[in-house]
Amino acid sequence: MYRTHHCGELSIEHLKSTVTLSGWVQKNRNKGFIIWTDLRDRYGITQLIFDEKRTPKAVFEKAQSLGREFVIKVKGTVIERESKNPNLATGDIEVLVEELTVLNQAKTPPFTIEDDTDGGEELRMQYRYLDIRRNTVKEKLIFRSRVSMAVRNYLTQDGFIDVETPYLIKSTPEGARDFVVPSRMNEGQFYALPQSPQTFKQLLMVGGMDKYFQIVRCFRDEDLRADRQPEFTQIDCEMTFVEQEDILNQFEGLTQHLLNSIKGIKPKPFPRISYDQAMKTYGNDKPDIRFGMTFNELNNVAQGKGFGVFDSQELVVGIAVPEAAKMSRKEIDALIDWVKRPQIGAKGLVWVKCNVDGSYKSSVDKFFTEKDLSAWASCCSAMPGDLILVLSGETQTTRTQLSALRMELAERLGLRNPEEFSPLWVIDFPLLEWDEEGNRYHAMHHPFTAPKPEQLNLLKTDPGSVKANAYDLVLNGNEIGGGSIRIHDQLLQSQMFDLLGFSKEEAQAQFGFLMDAFQFGAPPHGGIAFGLDRLVAILGGEETIRDFIAFPKNNSGRDIMIDAPAELDASQLKELALQSIATEKE
Ligand code: AMO
Repeated sequence: MYRTHHCGELSIEHLKSTVTLSGWVQKNRNKGFIIWTDLRDRYGITQLIFDEKRTPKAVFEKAQSLGREFVIKVKGTVIERESKNPNLATGDIEVLVEELTVLNQAKTPPFTIEDDTDGGEELRMQYRYLDIRRNTVKEKLIFRSRVSMAVRNYLTQDGFIDVETPYLIKSTPEGARDFVVPSRMNEGQFYALPQSPQTFKQLLMVGGMDKYFQIVRCFRDEDLRADRQPEFTQIDCEMTFVEQEDILNQFEGLTQHLLNSIKGIKPKPFPRISYDQAMKTYGNDKPDIRFGMTFNELNNVAQGKGFGVFDSQELVVGIAVPEAAKMSRKEIDALIDWVKRPQIGAKGLVWVKCNVDGSYKSSVDKFFTEKDLSAWASCCSAMPGDLILVLSGETQTTRTQLSALRMELAERLGLRNPEEFSPLWVIDFPLLEWDEEGNRYHAMHHPFTAPKPEQLNLLKTDPGSVKANAYDLVLNGNEIGGGSIRIHDQLLQSQMFDLLGFSKEEAQAQFGFLMDAFQFGAPPHGGIAFGLDRLVAILGGEETIRDFIAFPKNNSGRDIMIDAPAELDASQLKELALQSIATEKE
């Protein structure tokens, strides 16, 4: 038997019991006649004591050679500690060891297995299994498991059926590149790994499954960021005979349940805001509404006063930064430099200090009177003591720049409290977005998204203005879910492919199966997918998803532990006919 208890379990109640524990050596303190060893497993740490006087001589000697991360089994008696450790669950006791078995030795680990480790990111990724031994990573994986169990239970109890869909499929257009897998048995042909199970879940609705969910891996070959991994997990859901309202209510319920059961929070009904309003008010379709600093358009009050920078621009827009009028010139100059960085790309930043005495001081005093500035202040609902920051330019670009500045300021002012959760729905997304470069429309969500029924007639005349029954769930400035009501009519679906620039043949070749299915009694349906990694990270108070994934990829899409991706050897390439396919196609 390896253990009678685990390492986080023993307390004063167990005094005098004989126990067996197994685990890893966290730390050894050798005082000569006494050795204290911290024994660690997933559940905690128990202090072992080897005492020259009370421990059998051979055991005491063996204990001298224990190194960090050795795997050991001990048998001993629970005794009360002389100096207790109130910070440790097992801090009242220690185990006086009578028997010691070294189950496995360990090389000195390349970094310390401590919460505050000395190991850098790369090194920890290379030895991820050691990293997982650290509390900080381990706790995140346990947390993830709790969240996905809560999701599973909630949806299952609500009548959702968990159905697995295939991984070796044909391209699904979610907007990223596909990862492809060559088929040995079908020379020259390739599977694509799913960017999402989108078409399959729709086919499950045609198949009458009614309420489907799956916690499922998705694959997207796209540029990586803190909230993006090439393989990630979705909570993918679809329902039959539903309208947008049904989906929003159903999944607001799930999110409320998670916030409640995981974080003990009972949020108010989630606000809903249209995409257009989100862009106008926050410059962003995933606004962080934990704090204000909303956008105020100043064209009416700031143009036509002889300030050339503003006069010719499409948009003049400002935010009031609370209590920031006290910022020094140096601090403001640093902000100006910040917006001028190539990543943001603003040409400059106009500022107005709304002084507490009611006066104004600005970077454009030459062009604007106190009265003008006071009009700006009332437009921005700025209070005495606030700082107004203004950008101008082409509408979309300026909004994006000001949105980045708003988030940066919130970060600097400590307004992004990770323990505060402010979910909202962004609804009424445009159906299509225009791609200047490609000179064509793209589906904003995906090509299966239904246009607002009352705007169907605009599809022919002004497709760019058509809104979709599509929605995103946003939490603390992160898109944690997105979905839509789907097209279930074959004609409308083929019209959509047409608009997106697919020829009849291409649409048939790529999505013929779906359009065929729509001819066999496809019910109205819709759904949503949550990004599980993002959801878990945000609930866990962070925005980087990597640590909530057991074996993540680095920023170049590599798993540096197993060293993947890797080259194939010649025989494998030959078997897959990859070389000859390329030559043939050339
Ligand atoms: P969408 O593409 O919006 O929708 O994806 C749904 C959610 O998945 C998460 N997500 C990601 N998380 C980590 N890394 C990535 N690379 C990544 N890409 C997306 C986001 C996002 O909100 N089939 C549709 C859903 C539907 O219509 O039902 C879809 O996949 O949190």
